[in-house]
Amino acid sequence: MVAKLFRNLVDFSPKLSLRLWQLFYEFIARRFKKLTNWKYMNYGFADTQGKVTDDFNLLSENLYHHLLGKAQLAGKNMLEVGCGRGGGCELMLAYQPKTITGLDFSENVISFCKQTYQQPNLNFVAGNAESLPFDDNSFDIIVNLESSHCYGNRGNFFKEVTRTLKPGGFFLYADFMGRVHYPKRPAQLTECGLQVITEQDITPNVLQAMELSAPYKEAMIKKIVLKPFRKPINDFVGVPGSNIYNKFNSGETIYFSMLCGKGE
Ligand SMILES: C[S@@+](CC[C@H](N)C(=O)[O-])C[C@H]1O[C@@H](n2cnc3c(N)ncnc32)[C@H](O)[C@@H]1O
Repeated sequence: MVAKLFRNLVDFSPKLSLRLWQLFYEFIARRFKKLTNWKYMNYGFADTQGKVTDDFNLLSENLYHHLLGKAQLAGKNMLEVGCGRGGGCELMLAYQPKTITGLDFSENVISFCKQTYQQPNLNFVAGNAESLPFDDNSFDIIVNLESSHCYGNRGNFFKEVTRTLKPGGFFLYADFMGRVHYPKRPAQLTECGLQVITEQDITPNVLQAMELSAPYKEAMIKKIVLKPFRKPINDFVGVPGSNIYNKFNSGETIYFSMLCGKGE
């Protein structure tokens, strides 16, 4: 019931949606600030053909590797919008970019990141995806993974991506959305000044990751979440039987990944 009420309120107005997601993520970051080995908040990606793992962190890392593999990152200035607990930014270091900036609207999650990762070319900033606190043409690469479904107005975010990307820069984008709305997405990106170079439906990989990681997530939730809150948290983390799992499974919602570019 709590999860359903949350979903209904989020759909009610863009401003309310932004505020509710912010309160939700602030609460999660404050409540679990001591869990330093919990670094990712995405549903993960399983290689449906190849190696199978049930390690929750590895599955989440796979999703980053899937997305990051779409462009050349060495020597680049990178921004991740909606960096969450910062695991993705830390993992990007292995691709040898020049700098990485992680941005999130949750102040608590940003202080968690600042305390947890202290590499010289990695920094974290609090801010809103819909009004990025950076100059025009600041980044070569912008990454956005499983965050844009929380935004009040995704068009505002895409315009900000175009503004802050350098000419010739790339936008690596993955998230989920309703299948009926999905066909409109490439046109929306183009209207905001970005060209879609490749796009992929990765719902089967995400579904498999949700199934593989379920025992780990359920055991963890039993350990750290009070009984009355377990159902909404199970829904949030996407265990089989949750609302989001059922939507992916029925094809109502798809999980996509895209490589977009800003022309020279
Ligand atoms: C599902 S988590 C994904 C985090 C990270 N990308 C990962 O995969 O671990 C979504 C993140 O987006 C952030 N977020 C949501 N709306 C935002 C906004 N308008 N501006 C900046 N960050 C936002 C949330 O605070 C949260 O940390």
